[in-house]
Amino acid sequence: MHFPPWFKGAPRLMACLLGVTCLRLVSAGFPEPASLPSHPGLPDPLVFLSGKPVKTAREWERKRRPELQAMFQHYMYGDLPPKPSKMNFEIVSEHDDFLGGQGVLRCVRVTCGGSDATVIDLMVVTPKGAKGRVPVFLAMNFCGNHAVHADPRIPLTRGWLYTSCAGCVDHHATEASRGSQAKDWPIADILARGYAFATFCSTDVDSDRAEVSDGVRAAEARARGEAPVGPDRGTIAAWAWGFHRCVDYLVSDRRLDRRRIVAVGHSRNGKTALLAGAMDDRIAMVIPHQAGCGGTAPSRGTVGESIERINRAFPHWFNARFKGFTNNPARLPFDQHALVALMAPRPVLMSNAQDDQWANPSGQFEVLQAAAPVYQMLGAGGVATSSMPAHGVLVRSRLGYYIRPGKHSMTADDWRVFMDFADVHLRAGGQ
Ligand code: GCU
Repeated sequence: MHFPPWFKGAPRLMACLLGVTCLRLVSAGFPEPASLPSHPGLPDPLVFLSGKPVKTAREWERKRRPELQAMFQHYMYGDLPPKPSKMNFEIVSEHDDFLGGQGVLRCVRVTCGGSDATVIDLMVVTPKGAKGRVPVFLAMNFCGNHAVHADPRIPLTRGWLYTSCAGCVDHHATEASRGSQAKDWPIADILARGYAFATFCSTDVDSDRAEVSDGVRAAEARARGEAPVGPDRGTIAAWAWGFHRCVDYLVSDRRLDRRRIVAVGHSRNGKTALLAGAMDDRIAMVIPHQAGCGGTAPSRGTVGESIERINRAFPHWFNARFKGFTNNPARLPFDQHALVALMAPRPVLMSNAQDDQWANPSGQFEVLQAAAPVYQMLGAGGVATSSMPAHGVLVRSRLGYYIRPGKHSMTADDWRVFMDFADVHLRAGGQ
């Protein structure tokens, strides 16, 4: 059969136009968890669910990648909410004397939707006097933008916060919360190295309580005329949607380079950063820091957190179907290397700490190796080394890895490694 030349691009165009709707259509025919075959090892990302091999890069891009994106939503994270038809970016304030005049602070209110909108406070800091558009790190934080820097002009987070966030009273920020995490967010160094920095708080999108759904998932349920969805609602996918809505703003800010947006997150926020990148090509690089189970560590792993444990402790992070794999992770038709492969050919840095065995650093290294065949098929290299690097040594290949001594935390020194990795991949070619 002969097709006109324009027909070749049609499936991709359709996929773009239909977006999530298209992925939902694909997912409709997937088998129930109990009837999936058991794969004790990591399933080959270059084999379709049907068992057919992926033979070309084009087949990966057009067929296998959408199949995996649909399967991760169907079996694990739940569907990402669609992009609201109405979005509004309000510049609440702008200050060009931030950090003693080193940067420009812009506080943006990202309103996602109409009358029942989810509202995200996004803080954007750009280096003052930069020539041309600058690359930007977009990080999701735990304790509010006001905790990342003490400047009193940063609005306090409006909603619920974790009790562990310093200065919070009754789960709400107070003036005493300002700057409580500033030492871990080296904004001045980030600007000095020519990057912009943007951040938002996860709890603007979903407040991370199994028993209370109050964010975008609750709004989705209200729109369907239903009661809020409880602990099977898929909070990580909701947070990833939050990343995407912030990216909607970033690509509209003419001071920033829309081709060089890096998504960063620590731990549960790192799981989210990886999912956000896997589902949105506008994200040029991801740094899931100490993300572990449900993110960068294998679900079939035997070190640290298991999916049985994560489903029990944080049921709301995933959907109901994922609970069907609790006692049988070998039936998962993918593992987390396939999520990493969805980033291909874009760079991914997994960074870790030796004492954080809960996040299974060595299992993460195996995940990275197992994603490499997809990168290789796309001509993007893989992991530069086949054995775990020494502590403090950054593996700089497109699939990057880092492990340092110490515990579960994200520090200013970790950020220096993130920037070293970004320098290699985003500044190549003298941009
Ligand atoms: C818990 C959880 C991890 C998660 C971590 C965090 O330890 O078990 O999966 O990464 O919290 O987000 O800090």
